[in-house]
Amino acid sequence: MQITLETRSIVTLAEDALVTYLFEESDPIHGRIAELDKLTGGLLGRLAKSGELTGKTLELTLVHAPAGLKTARLLLVGAGKPGQFNPATLRKVAGAALRYLKTRGVHKFVFAVREGGLTEEAAQAVTEGVIASDFESDKYKTDKKNDKFIEALSIAGYGGAEKAAGEKGIARGRFVGDSQNFARDLVNEPSNKLTPRILAEKAEAMATEVGLKVEILDEKKIADLKMGALLSVAQGSVEPPRVIVVTYTPANPKLGAPVIGLVGKAVTFDTGGISIKPSDGMEKMKYDMAGGATMLGVMRALAALKPSVKVICVVPATENMPGGKAQKPGDIQTAMSGKTIEVLNTDAEGRLILADGIHYAKQLGATHLVDAATLTGAIVVALAGINVGVFGSDQAWTDKLLASAKAAGEKMWPMPMDEEYREFIKGSFADIQNISSGKGGGAITGAMFIREFAGDTPWIHLDIAGTAWNDDAKPWLAKGPTGVALRTLVHLITSL
Ligand code: BES
Ligand code: ZN
Ligand code: ZN
Repeated sequence: MQITLETRSIVTLAEDALVTYLFEESDPIHGRIAELDKLTGGLLGRLAKSGELTGKTLELTLVHAPAGLKTARLLLVGAGKPGQFNPATLRKVAGAALRYLKTRGVHKFVFAVREGGLTEEAAQAVTEGVIASDFESDKYKTDKKNDKFIEALSIAGYGGAEKAAGEKGIARGRFVGDSQNFARDLVNEPSNKLTPRILAEKAEAMATEVGLKVEILDEKKIADLKMGALLSVAQGSVEPPRVIVVTYTPANPKLGAPVIGLVGKAVTFDTGGISIKPSDGMEKMKYDMAGGATMLGVMRALAALKPSVKVICVVPATENMPGGKAQKPGDIQTAMSGKTIEVLNTDAEGRLILADGIHYAKQLGATHLVDAATLTGAIVVALAGINVGVFGSDQAWTDKLLASAKAAGEKMWPMPMDEEYREFIKGSFADIQNISSGKGGGAITGAMFIREFAGDTPWIHLDIAGTAWNDDAKPWLAKGPTGVALRTLVHLITSL
């Protein structure tokens, strides 16, 4: 899909469709929209009066062959209350417009950003919104509707567009949106098409393509490094594990600058192991590598956006299977850090592989850590599919991430990490145990476990179990993988 900046006046454009939005207010036809209304001979005013055009969030009103305009269609999207309007709404408005027009045989459209000249921020939000909305999880369908696609769109401002700012916004939005879809493509793959080895190959190809350093640790190297927690999960499968390490180094690294460690859970399929999951809904567990996919996507975007800090991405990848050699409840494992772990439930495997991933990222020099993982069903109970659960060991670092989430338009909510919860994972026969014994707070227990391995290094854990997968399609996003947390992390790292 081609995305360009439109600097001509929108009223003169003869495209398949012109898209703009209006707000939910007593008279939605004011400001710039009033000019369009005048050109169309008061059509918009009449629609508003009849109650068909209200500006309610994501209301879609399509006008064919609007008199007075050259465009074949005028699509008006509701943008909600003007006081609540922000780049996150703009992303959804643009995305919903694309998905609506795509199914109606439109191939080209102009998206007009309403107020003032087109800013870099607005151009980036629209670009990210349309690219993410264009993703479909139909890769393996053979009867794809090949005539339903958007070939090109241009982004315009009513008051014209400042060329440099608009183009910069589009370029940044492209890197971020494409990287988000890269991550979603990985998550969409079923486990027979995406084993740990295949994930490593794909990560290697991506890193080479964008010019990042990459190293793949195979099962032998993993054993040499004594990653006992990761190996304990992998031993139940005939598929060998991998650890993917992708590194971005800035051109002029500053002495004493932070080194960011991104660690992503990549269980390419989670059966639960010997503590096996119920078969109902188990197919969804192909998404249990979403944390790893997000981190790889972040690296892909950073390669183009070139932040000023070094970033080390570590993705431990394995299957969690109940094979003949699988670990069993009660087994005691020694993590790379030397800590001993009593595995009371083999389905709490994410925290095991992250334990070694985090220890390794620190060993490679990370001074600030973030992990992302589809870690617990408990976070789905607590926050549903709306918010990412955020756990942090350092207030300043956590505050930075939460500010970036806000800026990037991703909903994230801070969760408690009080010392009292530590009791829950004290081991009876080893240093720690991988689940608490019926005390509740499952998402927190998981985070407390990982924290043991981050130690004093400022660390954030993102539990994306509820938000990495859309069970139902949204007007602006297909059903399936979401690529959540990528935009926040890109914002966080590029603003350091
Ligand atoms: N991958 C799952 C997390 C998960 C569970 C995501 C259900 C979405 C829905 C994780 O490995 C897991 O199985 N966690 C267990 C932990 C429990 C055994 C303490 C869970 O949440 O049930
Ligand atoms: Zn599990
Ligand atoms: Zn899992």
